[in-house]
Amino acid sequence: MLVTKPHPFYALSAEGSYITDADGWTRIDWVNNFASLIHGHNKREVVEIISQQAARLLSATMPAEWEVRLAELLVERIPSVEQVRFMNSGTEANLIAIKAARAFSGKSKVAKLEGGYHGQYDLLEASYVPSADRWGARDCPAVLAHNSGTPKSLLDELVLFALNDIATMREILRRNASEVGTVIIDPSGLSLGTGVYADREFLAALRETTERLGMVLIFDEVWSLRSGYRGTQGAVGITPDITTMGKMIGGGLPIGAVGGKRDVMSVFSVDEGEPKVKHSGTFTGNPMSMAAGFTAMSLMVPEMFEMLAVQGQRLTDGLRRALTDTNTQGHVVNRGSMTNLLFTEGIPVDYRDLYTQQTPTVAALAAKMPKLMATEGLHVLRNMFVGSTAISDDDVDQTIAAVTRALVAAREAR
Ligand SMILES: Cc1ncc(COP(=O)(O)O)c(C=O)c1O
Repeated sequence: MLVTKPHPFYALSAEGSYITDADGWTRIDWVNNFASLIHGHNKREVVEIISQQAARLLSATMPAEWEVRLAELLVERIPSVEQVRFMNSGTEANLIAIKAARAFSGKSKVAKLEGGYHGQYDLLEASYVPSADRWGARDCPAVLAHNSGTPKSLLDELVLFALNDIATMREILRRNASEVGTVIIDPSGLSLGTGVYADREFLAALRETTERLGMVLIFDEVWSLRSGYRGTQGAVGITPDITTMGKMIGGGLPIGAVGGKRDVMSVFSVDEGEPKVKHSGTFTGNPMSMAAGFTAMSLMVPEMFEMLAVQGQRLTDGLRRALTDTNTQGHVVNRGSMTNLLFTEGIPVDYRDLYTQQTPTVAALAAKMPKLMATEGLHVLRNMFVGSTAISDDDVDQTIAAVTRALVAAREAR
């Protein structure tokens, strides 16, 4: 749920690129249920298969055909995925992936980016939004609980490093190599909505370092799989050991997935008795999500990803014009179907840079804009525009005009 004050917008219905709330406002949807609706709302083929499947089989403890078909599709497309298991969310996927990596590496500690988001598992939530007064030295960042009550013993299992700083990342992993067996990163960058992207060189260095130190590298592609037909890993040509997926692969229904090379995935194998990692769940691989996911993913042929990139570029060019026309300090950063409007002085390269550039003026404008855009007919999350195949050129042009009006209103309100 997207929390807005004084109360959330209650959704009533949606169609294609538009969503209507309970007050009767219809807006262009640039959130697309946190990036899970790659085709926008109510895609005909997806709705049809869900209706057919609901009448045939809602859920069962036995695997069903759609699970195999979705698994085969992911194995064919995603370079690191030779085998795959399904669950119900991206959070669950990362939790299970960490278990697999620990069992495979034999080491319990996990390393992740300071400021990185991987869902609601408390180990991975730590230091998601640390403040400058507590974050400690750059080459040894303090691990800070995200929620009250998080056990200290859990925090001791986490090690942090900064995005796009190869030398420090190498030094931190080298120093902790006897205890860290797993490194997890969203290969698109810092975390959702921040607009802070990973350099390819950094990802390549991370791959080389983890390989050399015998660590399992997990790419969390729950969000970033939408970057290309073969995910971000295919686009940058860097293959992790494990990939976690979710969001778009469920076609709008709940889903998570863990995929990887046969050797790592063998920890789940029941071929030789008790598996090293036992994985099951009431709704794992449920036929509704599998059917919707397979149908949505089948429609995402390479040309569709190219179309999304063209759409993202049209939006990016227009938003840059909007900044110039309204004399607003800022940047527009784009990766395929993801476009961010930033009000910072420069383009941030890591969490601390992003945090430091959030001056009170920048933060106030960033906080104000989603509301002003909502008044102008746009549904936008944290000034990030998440595209879908339902969005037309006309929607993009209307969006650019609406953002321009919102920027003018923001300036007048200053
Ligand atoms: C990179 C990343 N990983 C994991 C998650 C968690 O996925 P879910 O909300 O399905 O648990 C998200 C959600 O936004 C995400 O962006």
